[in-house]
Amino acid sequence: DKPGSIYEAIGEDKINVLVDCFYSHVSKHPDLIPIFPEDLTETARKQKQFLTQFFGGPPLYIQEHGHPMLRARHLPFVITPKRKDAWLSCMAKALEEADIQNPYRQAMFERLMMTANHMMNTPEDEK
Ligand code: HEM
Repeated sequence: DKPGSIYEAIGEDKINVLVDCFYSHVSKHPDLIPIFPEDLTETARKQKQFLTQFFGGPPLYIQEHGHPMLRARHLPFVITPKRKDAWLSCMAKALEEADIQNPYRQAMFERLMMTANHMMNTPEDEK
């Protein structure tokens, strides 16, 4: 792990709890249900790998799936500003439930917000 990383500070277990909480909200969010698979087991497994490396832990996602190319991987899904906000609201709740303390919580949310902004691919009125 990268010394001084968020991953090192909060630990592997927190990432796993965070992702489980996150997808339990995604599975109930009316704006997100239409684009996510019903069974989120594999999605959650990949997200744990991704967020582990995103926050400075071992490169688990790249080892199994190669370069994330996140924006390209999201192009098949209609991601409007409303869906981006929905995704971030699920993440904000999950960061609280996983009991991740500041300054890590705030730092994580800010990085996720930047990446979420980058994932938008459709203006609201084209949905
Ligand atoms: C996969 C939606 C933002 C990381 C997916 C999938 C959907 C989705 C529908 C496919 C799920 C599946 O078929 O298993 C969204 C929406 C976002 C968003 C609506 C709102 C902006 C993000 C952000 C990140 C991220 C900010 C990273 C910080 C991933 C990863 C995968 C994924 C790692 C799995 C890719 C793979 O199949 O290997 N997302 N996403 N997403 N998303 Fe997002």
